Amino acid sequence: MAITREQHEAWVAQRKAALRQLCEERFCNCSQLTLEIGCGHGHYLNAYALVHPQERCVGIDILGKRVEKSTSKQVKRELGNLEFIKAEATEFLAALPEQVALTRVMLLYPDPWPKKRHFKNRLVQAPFLNLLAGRMASGSFFYFRTDHEGYWEWAKEEIQAHPAWEIDEAAEWHFDAPSFFEEVKGRGKPLIARRH
Ligand SMILES: C[S@@+](CC[C@H](N)C(=O)[O-])C[C@H]1O[C@@H](n2cnc3c(N)ncnc32)[C@H](O)[C@@H]1O
Repeated sequence: MAITREQHEAWVAQRKAALRQLCEERFCNCSQLTLEIGCGHGHYLNAYALVHPQERCVGIDILGKRVEKSTSKQVKRELGNLEFIKAEATEFLAALPEQVALTRVMLLYPDPWPKKRHFKNRLVQAPFLNLLAGRMASGSFFYFRTDHEGYWEWAKEEIQAHPAWEIDEAAEWHFDAPSFFEEVKGRGKPLIARRH
C-alpha cells in the first residue's frame, strides 16, 4: 500500500530528529571535525584518518551497506579518530551541534546526475554551499573531485557564483589516496574551494 504525503513527511521529520539526537550525543564535546561526504566504501577516509591521528574524522553516506563496509575497515584498523554515519549530506550539516566547525570537507566522485532534467539533484549548488559555508570557518577548504567534465564545470560555476566561496587555484590537494571509485574509473579533476 502506498504511503500518503503526510506519512512520508512524518517519516522524514522523524529521521531528521533521530540524526540530530545522534549528532548531539556523538559530538557534544567536539569543536572541530574533518568530514567526507558520500564516503562510499570508506577507502579514502580510512587512509586519511590513519595519517591524521590528531583530527577527528567523520564519513557519511546515504547507503547503510556502504557505511557498514567503511566501519568494518575502521574497526579492523582500530582508528579511534574515525567514525561513519548513515546520513544524507544536507540533513547531516543541519543536524550538527552549533559549536562544531568543519575544518576540511571532501566530496569525491559524487553522483554526476548527467541528464539535464536531473541536474537539480547535483549536490554542489547554492543550498548545499550555503549550509557548508555556515559550518566552516573563513580560510577552510572544501575539496571536490569528479571524473565527469559536465559536473566539474557545473561545480566550478556554482562555487564561483557563491559569495561565501572562491576557487583557490594555488591550493594543493592535501592528501592523496584512491577512493574505491577512483580505483575502478581512474583519477578525475579536482576543485579546491576556500571559504571567504
Ligand atoms: C559515485 S559514489 C562515490 C563514492 C566514494 N566517494 C568513492 O569515490 O568511491 C557516490 C556516493 O555518494 C553517496 N551519496 C549520494 N548522494 C548523497 C547525499 N546526498 N548524501 C550523502 N551521500 C550521498 C552514494 O550513496 C555513493 O556512495
